Amino acid sequence: MRYLIAAAAVLVAGPVLAQDDLAEKGLGLFQQNCRQCHIVKEGEHRLGPSLYGVFGREVGSVEGFSFSSSLASSTRTWDAAHLDAFIANPSGVYGGTRMLYAGMSDPENRKALVAYLASEEAGGPGAEATEDDGAEAGATDSEEAPAEENGAS
Ligand code: HEC
Repeated sequence: MRYLIAAAAVLVAGPVLAQDDLAEKGLGLFQQNCRQCHIVKEGEHRLGPSLYGVFGREVGSVEGFSFSSSLASSTRTWDAAHLDAFIANPSGVYGGTRMLYAGMSDPENRKALVAYLASEEAGGPGAEATEDDGAEAGATDSEEAPAEENGAS
């Protein structure tokens, strides 16, 4: 009986844990790839802007950081698909960006990183955000292709 209850608890907790695991993997990737220029603390900018609450925020809008005109003039919002495309190829999406980062090619790693940025820990809306936001593998691919369209304009 005790075993059954434990098994049921695992089943119920399953999807939530999976999302947490993804965000935790993302945190590790963030520390390896992004933390030399960004931290996830509200209002604390380094070489790059604070990424606290970046998910759902308008591009290039956080106070106290001086963005390149490429980001500053964008009216888009950082949702899962847009973050994914930017992390894959920053200067391909925003020509003239000052973010000197070559890009992360592995889509699984980008997905984990975006899950971390969307997590409540990082000031995001939480786990649901990455799920129904076009972040599924197929949707991302088709949206990513014409990345130039999002460019410096
Ligand atoms: C070499 C330093 C550097 C590294 C490494 C770096 N960034 Fe950046 N990042 C910047 C700078 C500088 C900007 C501002 C760009 C601009 O104004 O053109 C920026 C901007 C951003 C923005 C836009 C923020 C906003 O409020 O609009 C996001 C999102 C972002 N970076 C995510 C990341 C992620 C995720 C990583 C790791 C995969 C990363 N960056 C790695 C320097 C860096």
